[in-house]
Amino acid sequence: MLQSGAIQINQLVKRFGDFEAVAGIDLQAPPGAFLALLGPSGCGKTTTLRMLAGLENPSAGEIYLNGRLVADGLRGTRVPAGQRDAGMVFQSYALWPHMTIYKNVEWPLKVRGWRGRRRHERVRQVLTLLDIDALADRYPGEISGGQQQRAAIARTLGPNPKFLFFDEPLSNLDAKLRTEMRSELLRVHRLSGATSVYVTHDQVEAMTMATHIAVMNQGHIEQLGTPRQLLQHPQTPFVANFIGTPPANVLRVQVQGGQYIYKHLVLGQAKGKDVNQTLLLMYRADDLRLRFEPGARRLPVALAEITPVAGRAIVTVWDNQQRLNVLVDHLLDGADHRDYFVEFPDQPTIVYKSDYDRYAFPNTVTDALSMRQPKVLP
Ligand SMILES: Nc1ncnc2c1ncn2[C@@H]1O[C@H](COP(=O)(O)OP(=O)(O)O)[C@@H](O)[C@H]1O
Ligand SMILES: [Mg+2]
Repeated sequence: MLQSGAIQINQLVKRFGDFEAVAGIDLQAPPGAFLALLGPSGCGKTTTLRMLAGLENPSAGEIYLNGRLVADGLRGTRVPAGQRDAGMVFQSYALWPHMTIYKNVEWPLKVRGWRGRRRHERVRQVLTLLDIDALADRYPGEISGGQQQRAAIARTLGPNPKFLFFDEPLSNLDAKLRTEMRSELLRVHRLSGATSVYVTHDQVEAMTMATHIAVMNQGHIEQLGTPRQLLQHPQTPFVANFIGTPPANVLRVQVQGGQYIYKHLVLGQAKGKDVNQTLLLMYRADDLRLRFEPGARRLPVALAEITPVAGRAIVTVWDNQQRLNVLVDHLLDGADHRDYFVEFPDQPTIVYKSDYDRYAFPNTVTDALSMRQPKVLP
């Protein structure tokens, strides 16, 4: 089979006993790509990354790195982790505490037979690249978490790997540092020329960093695309509801008498074939309007929270079944109004026919009930 691209995964499966953690995924990424594996906790991201890195054997399927078959379901690992030309960075920095930062970075080079001046210069080079050359003689316990993560990245970059595998590397950092490190990691990725695979549950992180994103859910890939493709053409309701700031709204409706019905509202005319079934309607936050009096296609809601964004606001409301995000053009005070309604457009933006029950929606009843009480002020 002709393999193009730096990463090619065919029908990859990983079982733990009866449980399929990775349920037959296909994935491709070109050389130099920054591929994010994005999805909620437990969807199989780490397991996929560990198979790529050679730390776990696939139960079925194939993995090619740069056209080379490195693992398959029949023979397991064909190319061991140490020979895949890959470096891995984890959430925990896993630096050796008894070695200085210099020694930590030097170690993998030593193991690979780099010697003398060449080794010394490479250590200095990556320490400078990560802006931690001044910390060379410190021990990991003597520097901050952010600096430790830089040291861990420097150590990984030393041998110049063709692949960089990251597993939630920024999760332990505070919000401001996390934002800084995003650009830092991107810079490192570009300078290294490596193909990177980056595991995260944070869609903002994936959307801001990745060239390609695989959205994962329950061991499956929901969609593989560029950030723009995922935003503009979410192929499944899960993707629509997971991607974007804020994510799109997905509403479960019944088709009755040729109309989409949600509670007492008619939300559009159904297509000819859609009769007597449950469908999912998608509306982006800016497809909806916030209103303060009842009217046609207006749903009474309670105010949950207001998030200012660049002079506008995302207003989150709920109706005891479902949270909805509405983008409004001006800042709004919670105290401004007594009653809130969401007005729907004539027709939904996207209609999904997928099986609703496969999806664990963050926006449905259980989650809405566990939200703090809506703060509707008198
Ligand atoms: N060694 C293992 N043995 C049994 N189950 C595992 C093992 N590793 C992971 N799992 C299960 O596989 C699923 C996917 O895990 P993981 O890949 O770590 O998810 P993620 O990284 O997306 O949070 C989870 O339900 C997890 O409990
Ligand atoms: Mg994980």
